[in-house]
Amino acid sequence: MTRLAILISGTGTNMQAIIDACERKEVPAQVTVVISDKPDAPGLERAKKHRIPAVVFEPKDFPSKDAYELEIVKELQKKRIDLVCLAGYMRIVGPTLLSPFKGRMINIHPALLPSFPGLHAQQQAFDYGVTITGATVHFVDDGVDTGPIIVQSAVPVKEDDTVESLSARILAEEHRIYPKAIKWFAEGKLTIEGRKVKLR
Ligand code: GRF
Repeated sequence: MTRLAILISGTGTNMQAIIDACERKEVPAQVTVVISDKPDAPGLERAKKHRIPAVVFEPKDFPSKDAYELEIVKELQKKRIDLVCLAGYMRIVGPTLLSPFKGRMINIHPALLPSFPGLHAQQQAFDYGVTITGATVHFVDDGVDTGPIIVQSAVPVKEDDTVESLSARILAEEHRIYPKAIKWFAEGKLTIEGRKVKLR
């Protein structure tokens, strides 16, 4: 059984979708630990409800980003984590955290990358006036939202959309494709070849 860690900063609806898919046995994995950088992240309550160990590490309690990330790495290694899933974790992952999990860390982004990386991707797409946006699950590399793409889903922008209505439809797609990507990883079906991810 693939052992997952989920890193969050907020609501945790993607985390919830992953937990539910694992519990329904649609994904051959178990959420072994949830880690938040915010003590008041609502996602922590969701984890508790499912009796999943939830740990908070706050960067302000550490002398440096390296020291903060090292503590996370220790926790991940202690729990023998196979795959780290970033799910609304609002920090850029540094080399200390990434290097032991290169090729074993994935992220969800609410746009069709490489368009609209970074913060407020839904707002960026809405303001730009695109007629199609979406969601992307990708491996994490040392850039911001630049890693090899595992799966994407397109979401049309409607004439009468607000950024809120658009974001809600994107989020529904995120909840659908994130567990799917994890399933493929857990089944050993994904290989990274340069920029491309091959699905067996
Ligand atoms: C999602 O839109 C995700 O793509 C982005 O942050 C949001 C997190 O939402 N990275 P949630 O915490 O999973 O509800």
